[in-house]
Amino acid sequence: MSGVAIDVRGEGEALVLVHGFPLDRTIWRGQGPLAGHLRLVTFDLPGFGDSPPATPGPGGLGRYTDVVLDVMDRTGLRSATLCGLSMGGYILLDLWRRAPERVERLVLCDTRAEADGEEARRGRDQGVARVREGRREELLDGMLTKLLTAASREDPAVGGHVRKMMARASERGLVDALQAMKGRPDSTPLLSTISVPTLVLVGSEDALTPPADARRLQSAVPGAAISEIPGAAHLSPLENPEAFNRALLDFFAQSPIGCNDEA
Ligand code: MLT
Repeated sequence: MSGVAIDVRGEGEALVLVHGFPLDRTIWRGQGPLAGHLRLVTFDLPGFGDSPPATPGPGGLGRYTDVVLDVMDRTGLRSATLCGLSMGGYILLDLWRRAPERVERLVLCDTRAEADGEEARRGRDQGVARVREGRREELLDGMLTKLLTAASREDPAVGGHVRKMMARASERGLVDALQAMKGRPDSTPLLSTISVPTLVLVGSEDALTPPADARRLQSAVPGAAISEIPGAAHLSPLENPEAFNRALLDFFAQSPIGCNDEA
């Protein structure tokens, strides 16, 4: 797992942030102010941002789960609050399956527990083909309209930034992630086993994982809370960081856990 780019900012309880597809750790730049309250750990999954692609080997979502666990080890965290955006949420549900003792609280943003259906799987295959044929722009341009509200797309600090993250993603990173998402299992049966405080966040205009789906996710996790982020689509932490950060800080305040430094 060498070469994974990691940033650690701030002090106090740790919050590990796991980015979505096809993004990188800078999707969390609006969460910078949280470093005044928490120890923020952000990192680039293999093949995205500043992290090199994974070495060839068994793929699947589990490879990314290994990376999250490795980042926690490297930053001295036996356990922490884990927050995942979309694909980051898929990874964290896999992490809950494998290593629940590493999770103090869970924040699931603009994500879902279900596996891909037939149509989504076909879409992943088309995405892989486009990337391999040098037509990644078609894939990424098509995604942009689904990821952001029209207003966010026009805003250079949001739409321009998302385009930059997409441009930085490596071919291998894109292909590995598409294949991993395509093959991920249904995590729905896991939801009733989640026994840590859980918050579901969703952009009020998220078309990929709409608020109604988020409410279904919330109701399947015992005691989970939900907050709808106004004026945001699928990339709620970047599109409305003020509301996103407020919801996170309220969640920490309402579910005290204690310190999570290395034992
Ligand atoms: C993401 O934001 O991580 C992706 O939209 C997830 C997906 O394609 O299923």
